Amino acid sequence: MGSQPVSLAFREATPEDIPLLLPLIKRAYRGSASRAGWTTEADLVADDRIDAAGLLTKISQPTGAVLVATDTSSGSFVSCCEVLHHPGSNAAYFGLFAVDPLLQGGGIGKTVLAFAEGYAREKWGVERMEMTVIWTREELIAWYGRRGYVKTGERREFPYAELVNGKALRDDLWFEVLEKDLVAAA
Ligand SMILES: CC(C)(COP(=O)(O)OP(=O)(O)OC[C@H]1O[C@@H](n2cnc3c(N)ncnc32)[C@H](O)[C@@H]1OP(=O)(O)O)[C@@H](O)C(=O)NCCC(=O)NCCS
Repeated sequence: MGSQPVSLAFREATPEDIPLLLPLIKRAYRGSASRAGWTTEADLVADDRIDAAGLLTKISQPTGAVLVATDTSSGSFVSCCEVLHHPGSNAAYFGLFAVDPLLQGGGIGKTVLAFAEGYAREKWGVERMEMTVIWTREELIAWYGRRGYVKTGERREFPYAELVNGKALRDDLWFEVLEKDLVAAA
């Protein structure tokens, strides 16, 4: 896991980034490569997490963005996330959060999450950030808790019918909804 601090540059992803983003996301979430990180879905789901068409939809959404963090010294992609605003709502959604497994544990995730919160506040004036996490991932829910996120008590269905080139490894998955009051935290 990462020990050297990495200097990050942020930007909105474009369709040209898809060939580099897809493997980063898959390495972080799924399969043996993800086990190099400290938290993974490798024991829960065996699919590709997202395909090029799904990523293009997220990159192109008019009220959202996929944010990319690159290492300023090498230019390589180290992290990404999605932020999405539902017009009329005072909340934004945060998802597709991935840090290269070989660089996890060095503070990149915290920096990216904080950047995404600032981006959503400035761009849409939202007061809350919302996300969903598979209920079994206690270590990750605790990590979000240390960043100010709390369980809302709402549960959302796991998309068993929409998995990409693979299958779930358990039949009892659902999402916890977490949220953070960005105004109180500012
Ligand atoms: C979640 C993720 C984005 C975090 O990125 P990261 O760069 O590792 O995060 P940071 O380095 O900023 O944070 C490190 C934290 O992990 C904790 N950590 C490290 N090893 C850990 C372990 N074995 N168990 C539990 N926590 C651990 C550290 O204590 C630290 O938290 P703290 O500062 O509150 O004490 C990254 O792990 C990832 O890509 N995971 C796979 C994809 C995923 O699960 N995405 C989120 C879906 S909702």
